This record gives sequence, structure tokens and C-alpha cells, in this order.
Amino acid sequence: MKKEKTLNKNEDINKFADNLQEQIIEQLRKEYSEVVIDHWQNPRNFKKIKDPDGYAKVTGPCGDTMEMFINIQDEKISECGFQTDGCGTTIVCGSVTSEIALNKTFMQVIADVNAEDVLKHLGGLPPDNVHCAQLATETLKRALLDYRSKQKAPWKKHYRK
Ligand code: FES
Repeated sequence: MKKEKTLNKNEDINKFADNLQEQIIEQLRKEYSEVVIDHWQNPRNFKKIKDPDGYAKVTGPCGDTMEMFINIQDEKISECGFQTDGCGTTIVCGSVTSEIALNKTFMQVIADVNAEDVLKHLGGLPPDNVHCAQLATETLKRALLDYRSKQKAPWKKHYRK
């Protein structure tokens, strides 16, 4: 009898949690596109890369920080990972930027990848979140510049924190 009661209680808690999550997602749908919600629920490349070819850590105007890790093969970005202590939208922007970066050359990223691309890919973001896209693309570009500077001075890699 006691076991049955505990089971019912657990089922109630699970139902409550499912309903709550559904309500949160419904609320998000009013402001954000399905693409945003997808990246929010399943962020891509949310990882650190050990000993990457390029690395950058940038703090945005809001105080949130993003890190990008890239590996280069045949002059193209073969792997890109990111980490952030920022909000859900920052994670979404890091996720999309890391996908856009793949297979791009240094020049393609420096010249063509910007916050507008990320926003277009996401179907837009509320004005308060636009800087999240800027933070992600700037961090990517700085990681590439880090790669370039280490190519010119390979010893710098040993002094990275
Ligand atoms: S980067 Fe600050 S809220 Fe997203």
C-alpha cells in the first residue's frame, strides 16, 4: 500500500514536470523560432577541445563569457567547440556559430560570418538577445586569429593558459 502511494506520488511529480516544461516551451514559442528552441534543447558542439589549434575567450557587454575551440585541417575549420556561462540564447548562438564555422576557411569566416548570419539562421532574436550572436561570432573570429598568430609564432601555443 505504502509502495503504491510512493509510485503515485512519483508519477504526479513526473506529470507536473512534463506539464511545466511544455508550458515553458509554449511560452518560448511566442518569442523564439523553432530553430532557436531546437538549439536550446539540443546544443551542438557544446564541448571543450583539448589542445586546439585556435582558442579564444571573450566577455560580452552583459558580462557573459564565451570560449571557442577550433581545429584546422587543410586550411578549413574541421572541428569547433564552445563553452559559455551565459543564458540559453547565448548557448543557442554558440551552437549555430559552431555549425556555420565548419568547413569554412580563415578568409570565409573573417569576411562572411557575422551576427546577422546567425540571426538569419535563427529566424531572428528579440532585441535584448542580439548581442549574444555578436559574442559568438566575435569569439569564433578571435579563435581564428589565435590560430593565425600561432602559425607565425608556434612557440605561443606553449604559453596558452
Ligand atoms: S551573451 Fe549576454 S545575455 Fe547572451
